[in-house]
Amino acid sequence: MTLIIAVDGPAASGKGTIAARLALTYGLPHLDTGLLYRAVGARLLAQGLSLDDEAAATEAARGLDASGLSDDPGLTTGEAGEAASRVASFTGVRSALLDLQQAFAAQVGGAVLDGRDIGTVIAPDAPAKLFVTATPEVRAARRWKQLAARGSDISFEDMLADIQRRDERDAGRGAAPMVQADDAVLLDTTDMGIEAAFDAARRIVEAARAKHGL
Ligand code: DC
Repeated sequence: MTLIIAVDGPAASGKGTIAARLALTYGLPHLDTGLLYRAVGARLLAQGLSLDDEAAATEAARGLDASGLSDDPGLTTGEAGEAASRVASFTGVRSALLDLQQAFAAQVGGAVLDGRDIGTVIAPDAPAKLFVTATPEVRAARRWKQLAARGSDISFEDMLADIQRRDERDAGRGAAPMVQADDAVLLDTTDMGIEAAFDAARRIVEAARAKHGL
């Protein structure tokens, strides 16, 4: 068995930062799977196509070049996140992105993946699974601060409404909904700064390593 670390959870829970730091700590490659869905949504928007067009979204997912996505600032916007959440509900899109994610997870030395369905669908046998969450208010406040620092004038109320809409769509869809895997450890970061959250995450991974002899 290899050290696959599955980090799932809702938007702005801290899962991306935690996953990136776990990857550094253990010297593992990291895939932010949200970027794949963001790239598909952004492609439709750029082509002037509807986010309800499952055939076009599936085609965009099939043709996706996953390299360099983390360097594209256009994918970090709220608009790209919303578009991602919409195209992510299509079964065609999800299955088009499945092989790529499973191949990443299956790398010889192990891997860290973060998203919504890593512990349930992409890597159900991963020895280390975390479900990172926080209250919607705290997550909205974190995201709002980030965006305000970049000059956005979105209000906190609108940010909270966006987060709640995303949560409902991601958890309520039929295809691979966001849900904590039965064997994932819940990490609630509501009252934690990033250092405390990362420490807690590392302890969860250490316990999983000890349990599986990794
Ligand atoms: O993690 P993120 O905010 O970048 O994800 C953007 C959207 O992509 C999210 O609202 C739902 C979708 N997503 C998904 O359905 N499955 C994943 N594994 C990752 C993201």
